Amino acid sequence: MINNLAVSAEQLRTSAIEVLRMNDLGTMTSAAPNLYPHMWSWDAAFVAIGLARVDVHRAITELRTLLDAQWSTGMIPHIVFSDNDTGYFPGFDRWGTAGAAARPAEVKSSGICQPPVHAIALRHIVDRGRENGGGDQAAAEEFLQTSFDGWLAWHRWLATVRDPDGVGLIEIHHGWESGFDNSPRWDGPYGRIRSGHIEPFTRRDTTHVADASERPDDAEYTKYLWLVHQMASVGFNDAAVQDIVDFRVRDVFFSAIMAASSDVLAGLADEIGRSADAAELRNMAARFRRGVDSTLDPETGLARDYDVLAGQWISTETVSGFAPLVAGGRPEVLARQRDILQGPHWMGNAQLMFALPPSTSPSSPAFRARTYWRGPVWPFLNLLLGWACTRDSQLGLYETLRSESLRQLSDLKFGEYYEPFTGEPLGSLAQAWTAAAALEWLGTGQISAGRMHT
Ligand code: SER
Repeated sequence: MINNLAVSAEQLRTSAIEVLRMNDLGTMTSAAPNLYPHMWSWDAAFVAIGLARVDVHRAITELRTLLDAQWSTGMIPHIVFSDNDTGYFPGFDRWGTAGAAARPAEVKSSGICQPPVHAIALRHIVDRGRENGGGDQAAAEEFLQTSFDGWLAWHRWLATVRDPDGVGLIEIHHGWESGFDNSPRWDGPYGRIRSGHIEPFTRRDTTHVADASERPDDAEYTKYLWLVHQMASVGFNDAAVQDIVDFRVRDVFFSAIMAASSDVLAGLADEIGRSADAAELRNMAARFRRGVDSTLDPETGLARDYDVLAGQWISTETVSGFAPLVAGGRPEVLARQRDILQGPHWMGNAQLMFALPPSTSPSSPAFRARTYWRGPVWPFLNLLLGWACTRDSQLGLYETLRSESLRQLSDLKFGEYYEPFTGEPLGSLAQAWTAAAALEWLGTGQISAGRMHT
């Protein structure tokens, strides 16, 4: 029987720390021991949030390693490759970024990006440093000062190159950039792609899971590699990629993170006397909040993506529909979204093992309980939603997300994602950002009963 454990907060904390230790490669944390033996950009941000609860210096190292991989354009790549060549596919050679002019020559990376959660992680590091005082505080303040320009350049790159028309929505060129790789959100755009010739390939991800149906299928994967091939063919030059790539989508959830994170970075800018940059970042945040708001489907109350090449809105019943809850926004919009989120199609679904939002609503025909972004629950996303709740003083919803997440994570498996009805951990176990989420949930608020029973 799964989840019949009753563990103490201390056991959960010790196990989560052990997972981060196991994944620690020195200056980076691998996203997972076997399936993902490198650093992923948004994973690293969540990992830093968890590490900051345990070791502020190590959390700083994590973000510094990521920032060292920043391209001269300002882009932060989605994978920073470790020297651990344990057969991850597609590796550095397959990415074709060796000749990309903007990549720092000494750091091997991919050529696409992921949502900018980093300023939120930086905020956590600074806050933990100040709480601890002493050397932790000094290191955190110093890191804030010395890294600020890097984060600012990253936000500026996103706000210009990825929103050239200033609509307040970030354009992505690969489903991997969203982080929601095979979500039903991208079925339309991928469905229209006709791949040209690509080099033969052997997948490795499917060899690390018990059941290949937990992963994207081969047809999806071929298109993922086709897009990489297209981008590599123009040396990952920003303007050229936008001209030729077969996937151009305005990603509402990425845009919501951009809005939230720009506000956080603005607050940090103020604290180090960078008031002009703070004003610029607040304008950025407001623009992306408006952009997210502009995508709302009045009937469903959910936010939508936009397929640029097809000229169409993408309406899906996926958790990205709650982008306004992350971005912040008009109180009436957020109140309706909270109702929907806690209603019968989402957290209130009576069949759920834990009252946590599945990546796709179980009421949707696209729902698949075990398949990656088509249904499973992703713990790091719940942490992000919880963070937004504290920002917006929504303590009831926050407490539900926190207590249910702690119950879910008390299996001590730290799954990449979870089957919503049984609570079975899927994908990789010992996933670093899942362990980090546990540490952050434990670190906030009181653990009322001292033991968490599942
Ligand atoms: N998430 C992708 C993978 O499965 C890459 O970003 O490898």
